[in-house]
Amino acid sequence: MKFSRSAPLKGSLEIPGDKSISHRSIMFGALAKGTTEISHFLKGADCLSTISCFRQMGIDIEEKDGKILVHGKGLHGLQKPEGVLDCGNSGTTTRLISGILAGQDFDVTLTGDESIQKRPMGRIMEPLSRMGAQIRSIKENGCAPLFIQGAPLHGICYSTPVASAQVKSAVLLAGLYADGETQVTEPALSRDHTERMLSSFGADIRSEGTTAVIRPASELYGQSIQVPGDISSAAFFLAAGLLVPGSQILLRNVGINPTRDGVIRVFRQMGGRIEMPHTYLCGGEPAADLLVSAGSLHGTVIEGDVIPTLIDELPVIAAAACFAEGETVIRDAGELKVKESNRIEAMVTNLRAMGADAEETEDGMIIRGGRPLHGAVISSRNDHRIAMTFAIAALMAEGETHIPEWNCVDISYPDFLADLRSLIGY
Ligand code: S3P
Repeated sequence: MKFSRSAPLKGSLEIPGDKSISHRSIMFGALAKGTTEISHFLKGADCLSTISCFRQMGIDIEEKDGKILVHGKGLHGLQKPEGVLDCGNSGTTTRLISGILAGQDFDVTLTGDESIQKRPMGRIMEPLSRMGAQIRSIKENGCAPLFIQGAPLHGICYSTPVASAQVKSAVLLAGLYADGETQVTEPALSRDHTERMLSSFGADIRSEGTTAVIRPASELYGQSIQVPGDISSAAFFLAAGLLVPGSQILLRNVGINPTRDGVIRVFRQMGGRIEMPHTYLCGGEPAADLLVSAGSLHGTVIEGDVIPTLIDELPVIAAAACFAEGETVIRDAGELKVKESNRIEAMVTNLRAMGADAEETEDGMIIRGGRPLHGAVISSRNDHRIAMTFAIAALMAEGETHIPEWNCVDISYPDFLADLRSLIGY
């Protein structure tokens, strides 16, 4: 796909459904009694992987009048799948399903694509094993494929070494099947969609600071869920709206859960004009319309507890930093190395190819803004967020940018191009 300098972005856009919340709505719907009705579900490839895994385990999931209906079979209603469960490119599917499968009465093999087979699974195998789970990496390299033999589980108090909602959620979901209470404490608070949604399904779960506590459930109950727009998808248009001169856009229905809204806080800190003319609750999650106006940005330091609240937005923030005045330093973000690609390396290499002054560090990067960028051939590493980040960078660069591995955007944002075109007016 090819991109070049853009006219101002104008108009408004309805942001597609949140990926993290869409995954959870299928999973918890499958484990609940009765039907769960999901509106504004994200039909990205990752969430479709979750649907296909649960269908393989006997759950009837259908689409009706634009909504997804999950006909749950209760906490003990999953069936042993025929063959291997394929989680595709999705870390959320792999890790959260592992937590659920640990407490079933059947065995399963779980795998995914080339990227998933390189991502660390020791971080879930360790706490789940402590709960009594029988889970192992078939190649003994700490990655998928995983073999999980369902087993009786017991509650634990676990302190995670990394702030990861996928790890926290895997342990909490296993906790649904454990005897006794399960506690997870994180070094900083990661996204809390699991806690919010499990509670609405009737689970006995509570949060105190960075600790979440769950007690085994006797039953979950199907819900009607309205998925808010994904702030991680909105982030691309936030950056473009702030940086393409003369732009003003309204991004409608964006989830602004405080465990996810770091990108708004950081762009404002950099001088970005983002207003919220309308805030409301959407399916138990705070949401807002965001009015974004172009202006100049300046560099900043991004570190500490804010990192988990913008971890998936760091690539596009780093690209935006190239157009800001002064230096931007990103620290405490070593987790970027174990995402769909090594996002520190992928960002720095590709930004440099466009002429940016960018430097890798142990746990982040340093970007010195103000140098004009030029078009280049970008290697997305088949990572959806890297591909979309460079489509946005190209809108402010001289000449043409070519992103050959483009189809990966289907993972989280199949309509990205159409939405971008609607704001540019062609
Ligand atoms: C996710 C959690 C985050 C995030 C990922 C989705 C989730 O990963 O990067 O895109 O849905 O729980 P970690 O929990 O590993 O940080």
